[in-house]
Amino acid sequence: MSTIYQATASAPVNIAVIKYWGKRDTKLILPTNSSLSVTLDQDHLRSTTTSRADPSFERDQLWLNGKEDEIKAVGRLATCISEMKRLRKEYEIKTQMNQRYSFPQFHIASYNNFPTAAGLASSASGFAALVASLAQLYTLPASPSTLSLIARQGSGSACRSLFGGFVAWQMGSDPSGNDSLAVQVAPQEHWPQMHALICVVSDDKKGTSSTSGMQRTVETSPLLQHRIKYVVPERMEKISKAILERDFDTFAKITMADSNQFHAVALDTEPPIFYMNDVSRAIIALIVEYNRLSVEAGKGYKAAYTYDAGPNAVIYALEENIKEIVQLIVSYFPQRSGEFKDVLGLFGASSTDLNAL
Ligand code: ADP
Ligand code: DP6
Ligand code: CO
Repeated sequence: MSTIYQATASAPVNIAVIKYWGKRDTKLILPTNSSLSVTLDQDHLRSTTTSRADPSFERDQLWLNGKEDEIKAVGRLATCISEMKRLRKEYEIKTQMNQRYSFPQFHIASYNNFPTAAGLASSASGFAALVASLAQLYTLPASPSTLSLIARQGSGSACRSLFGGFVAWQMGSDPSGNDSLAVQVAPQEHWPQMHALICVVSDDKKGTSSTSGMQRTVETSPLLQHRIKYVVPERMEKISKAILERDFDTFAKITMADSNQFHAVALDTEPPIFYMNDVSRAIIALIVEYNRLSVEAGKGYKAAYTYDAGPNAVIYALEENIKEIVQLIVSYFPQRSGEFKDVLGLFGASSTDLNAL
């Protein structure tokens, strides 16, 4: 009986506070600006990917949530798989291995335990889990940085999911892309009080994918040029410092401003792209008012909203305020109204058990 090689790996999503939106190289996935995110460490939003190699396989195939997803010849999946095959070959040569596995073809099955393509960063956890499972199957001693470079070529945001905690994707300047990768700004233990609340407003597939949306923005938005040149570099510096100093006020102000500017840039695209809906905007109004009252009471900012390419809100807040915020949201948007599919407390020392509130 021949040995079956199989490996399973899982990766969490990350939600950006400085948004990546725009590519300067669409093939290598090199961004027009650096970005920064928080990797959510709980089990609620994850991709789990199993890769299998068997000599009888005729071609690489991938099933996403049980349905076959075509691996296009020059597409991102094919790029990630062939980059992993190249790494394995290099490893075999370097270590002068006797036993050479060319592992010519893979069957890959991946599951997301949350809505796919709904603006909750499934492409980030998906491609991170894919490269991690192939690295394991190939028993490669590859560093998270090396895997980050490869995951980036699957989906830009995926390069940040190879690290936990607070993670920056440095845009780099080399045309090869070899300096465009994620680095950890601080581990989660640095600021364990930081929590993320995910408000699933809709789990529908978004109308405009991130890939096509940002390409249209690059081609048509004058505001994007201003953003990448004059706004993001300073915000990257300031928010990194705020994280290192555990300065929630600054973290919150920059996070909300950057979410707003990302959606402004989407609106500045021709034709315009709308990712938020009325419920998203109502949540913004609620958080703005909540912060205003808190600042007035001398307590500073308590919550920061951010929206990816979809209507679902992610609210960053310190653990001590999570209970109050959840109660606020649930009372303004009662779940019986069906506006929220789910509200999850994530990240930080432990996930918030909403039923216990
Ligand atoms: P999202 O906001 O969920 O990241 P995107 O438009 O960026 O949405 O990307 C969605 C696409 O990412 C999916 O259509 C699929 O091609 C890919 N994807 C999502 N999950 C996985 C996964 N687990 N494994 C491989 N690819 C995935
Ligand atoms: C709004 O990484 O999904 O979530 O590189 O084309 O796959 P591709 O796009 P993707 O874009 C993410 C956009 C964002 C912001 C962010 O995660 O930084
Ligand atoms: Co995505």
